Formats: sequence, structure tokens, C-alpha cells
Amino acid sequence: MTNEKVLVIGSCGQLGTELVESLRGIYGESHVISTDIRKNDSVIFETGPFETLDILDESKFKEILQKYKPTQVYHLAALLSATAEKNPEFGWKLNMDGLFNVLNAAKEGQSIKRVYWPSSIAAFGPNTPRIDTPQYGAMDPTTVYGISKYAGELYIQYYYNRWGVDTRSLRYPGLIGYKSEPGGGTTDYAVSIYHDALKTQHHNCFLEKDTVLPMLYMPDAIKATLEVMHAEASKIKMRMSYNLAGMSFSPEEIYNEIKTHIPDFTIEYNSDYRQQIANSWPAVIDDSNAREDWGWIPDFNLEDMTTDMLLNIRQLYSLGS
Ligand SMILES: NC(=O)c1ccc[n+]([C@@H]2O[C@H](COP(=O)([O-])OP(=O)(O)OC[C@H]3O[C@@H](n4cnc5c(N)ncnc54)[C@H](O)[C@@H]3O)[C@@H](O)[C@H]2O)c1
Repeated sequence: MTNEKVLVIGSCGQLGTELVESLRGIYGESHVISTDIRKNDSVIFETGPFETLDILDESKFKEILQKYKPTQVYHLAALLSATAEKNPEFGWKLNMDGLFNVLNAAKEGQSIKRVYWPSSIAAFGPNTPRIDTPQYGAMDPTTVYGISKYAGELYIQYYYNRWGVDTRSLRYPGLIGYKSEPGGGTTDYAVSIYHDALKTQHHNCFLEKDTVLPMLYMPDAIKATLEVMHAEASKIKMRMSYNLAGMSFSPEEIYNEIKTHIPDFTIEYNSDYRQQIANSWPAVIDDSNAREDWGWIPDFNLEDMTTDMLLNIRQLYSLGS
């Protein structure tokens, strides 16, 4: 029987829904407490404890900590890049104050032994090298989301150095999965393109055809998250956030890959405000630190991911193959 208790904050989103499932498989259903400001139709409500929590509500957060005494916290609640640009003030408040509530609880010697908090490629900016983006280099994010991620990286490192809080973090590229809706990011097109290919055979893309961005298939994102959290502390040499890569492609490349499965699929390009955000982000990430420190290797490339996404979305829609 495990002594670990895992609390997931912001668990009903694209990442949390799948992460909770995997964590419950590892630690047991009653040992993984899912929390979110909202409920949706996710299966996670039926498979273990759920508490409604606005992470900005510090007293409710403390009540939940008192009740469950978690040893690990995965803090996923955030306003994502495109959504935060519509409400920058609140984007900063949620992304930073939420993180401080978690870090302070860990620092104050509650039960928490380890904290996971994701960063993003949005922490980079237009002066970062776009190809083979290094772990360290120019970081000049242009969105409030990216600024909050970069500041968050510095703070988690500060809490580790100053108070020994065992913080771990990954700079996710765009995450692609079929189990839940994306949450308002600049890479969301790479999820909806698969749904459109099967539903209407037409996709209206909000980025230009040759905009190469780094992406990661959700099973790889879950694998990396669990690996970095389960690695021995001595292997975690990066206390800001690790560069992480899976694959890189443009809208035209993913479209051509889907077309090998669905020949009638068509696409049009009508870029919007998200193009400017994408232009400020890296295209290909150098993740050699993650590979060297804790053995990171992704399983999926564009071809494998496309086969798997189409298979699973077909099953979801019960369209047959
Ligand atoms: N999805 C991606 O492509 C991507 C890429 C890089 C980094 N990330 C990071 O990964 C994390 C999870 O992303 P996601 O894609 O699952 O996002 P999402 O938007 O799908 O999910 C976020 C969840 O947080 C919840 N939430 C919002 N405000 C809250 C609050 N005040 N208190 C508690 N919960 C609240 C939302 O209801 C939602 O369920 C975020 O920190 C995000 O910045 C995601």
C-alpha cells in the first residue's frame, strides 16, 4: 500500500484528465485527489475523490490540504496563451498567485514533499534561437502567459534554492490528445485538425501553412511528467524547467500526413492573432538536458501520432474505420 497522496489542481483540463487517470493507475484511485474550479463530463469524477477548488481561494486550499495531507502536488491550473491575451491582468493573477499558494503551502512544511508545475515553450521569445532552441539562452516572452511561465520558472527555482522545496518542471511544447478539448492555446489547431478531418473533411487553420512549432503527443507528455516526478532528486539538475521535445511540424505537414489516411481532406489558411504568438515561439527544441539527466526519449513522431489520433477519434465518434 502506498503512503503517497497526490493532489492534482486544474485536473479537468486537457492534461489533467489524462494525468489523473495515469496517477490513479499507479497510486490507487483513492490516493489521487482531483480538484478543479469546474466540473465537466470527464471520467475522473467516477474513478476517485474530487473537490471543487479555486486555487486563488487560499483558505479552501488549506482546508483541502488539511483533509487529504497530500505528499505530491501537480499544479496545472492556468490561463493558456491565447485566452490570457484576452484578459492579461487576470492571466497574470491566476498563473502567479495560484503558483504562490502552492509553493507557500509546500514551504510552510505542510505534508507536501514534491511539487510539479508545468512551464511552456511560451517562456521563449523572438530573440531565442528558433532552431535547436537551447535550455539556456535569450528568454524574452511577448505574451502575458509566457511572461508568467518564465517568472514561474524563476520562482520554483528560488523556492528550491532558498527553502528546499522539491520543485520539478517541464517546458511543454503544444500538447496533442484526443481525450479532451484543448484549453485555448496557440497550438490547439493541431488537435482540431484531426476532428475536422473526420467530421467535415475540411479544416480552417488559424496559422499560416509553414508555421513550424514543437509538439508532443499526450502519451509522451504523461510519460515525461511521471518520469521527471519519479526521478531521484540527484538526477534533477535543472530546477527551473526542462526543455522537452517530441516532434516539430507545420500545418501543411500535419495536413499532408492526415491526407495519406483521408485523401479527400482539404484545408484553408486564415491566420488570426495567434499567428503573431506562434511567430515568437521556437520551432525545434533541444532537449538534451532531459535526455542526459533522467533519460527522456519520446515514443511518437508525426506519423505514429496521426495513425493513433485518427484511430481513437474514429472510435470516439463510432464512425468505423
Ligand atoms: N495544452 C498545452 O498545449 C500546454 C502547453 C504548454 C504548457 N501547458 C501547461 O500545462 C498546464 C495544463 O494545461 P491544459 O492544456 O490542461 O490546460 P486546460 O485549460 O485544458 O486546463 C486547465 C484547467 O485548470 C482549471 N482552472 C482554471 N482556473 C482555475 C482556478 N482558479 N482554480 C483551479 N482550477 C482552475 C480549468 O477549469 C481547467 O480544467 C497549464 O499550466 C499549461 O500552462 C499546456
